[in-house]
Amino acid sequence: MKLLALESCNVTYGKAQALHSVSIEVAQGEVVSLIGRNGAGKSTILKTIIGLKQPVSGRRVWKGDDVTARLPNQLGRLGIGYVPEDRRIFDNLTVHENLRIATVMGRTGAWTETRIFEMFPVLLDRASQAGNTLSGGEQQMLAISRALLTNPELLLLDEPTEGLAPLIVDELVDSMRRINEEGMTLLLVEQNLRVPMKLAHRQYVVDNGTVQWSGTTADLLANREEIEKLISV
Ligand SMILES: Nc1ncnc2c1ncn2[C@@H]1O[C@H](COP(=O)(O)OP(=O)(O)OP(=O)(O)O)[C@@H](O)[C@H]1O
Ligand SMILES: [Mg+2]
Repeated sequence: MKLLALESCNVTYGKAQALHSVSIEVAQGEVVSLIGRNGAGKSTILKTIIGLKQPVSGRRVWKGDDVTARLPNQLGRLGIGYVPEDRRIFDNLTVHENLRIATVMGRTGAWTETRIFEMFPVLLDRASQAGNTLSGGEQQMLAISRALLTNPELLLLDEPTEGLAPLIVDELVDSMRRINEEGMTLLLVEQNLRVPMKLAHRQYVVDNGTVQWSGTTADLLANREEIEKLISV
């Protein structure tokens, strides 16, 4: 089943057009990546999905319904979760308090604190520590956990592995794979191919605010040289 689609979306910041007729879709159960260099428009695509940006033309579609006019909180209630690039953890609250807020604010469902601590045991070890005492990798785990606790059907992740050491990236890739295997649909933004090649079923390459290429991960492998050119800095 098709969960989400953007259809021919044009998105602007003031007079500057950031997205040009962008169309993407995500089916239930998939891991889909948006790949592209700095300023390509990746975060703007996620913001358009979650309603932080409204397209000046084009449509946002959720399970076949036109939800273009909906606001971020309404789209959250429909089942779209979002981990922004800056992670937005409450620095002065403990790990447990950070999780509690998400539990209270979100939808109910299969993701509970118990399940989060099974997925990320380090968060249980750190439960009474303040958010700002966590390592970068732990903060990302906390940010993902908070989004999971709102029990979305589609989880948007903006550069979850940015700035993390290779070993921690591998750990996060394993976690995201398990989260997907347990039924969560993921739309993941990354600047390079490393994580998408390991994790995603399908890929969109974004440049200059347009979708330049899309295909399966096997297609990407077959066209790797061409795609490296589109994303190299
Ligand atoms: N708040 C804003 N005001 C004005 N222009 C913006 C704003 N946010 C983004 N832009 C512009 O829109 C374009 C797309 O930006 P976007 O943040 O979506 O790129 P990105 O692919 O996420 O880049 P990065 O990899 O650096 O995060 C860029 O030209 C950027 O300068
Ligand atoms: Mg970005």
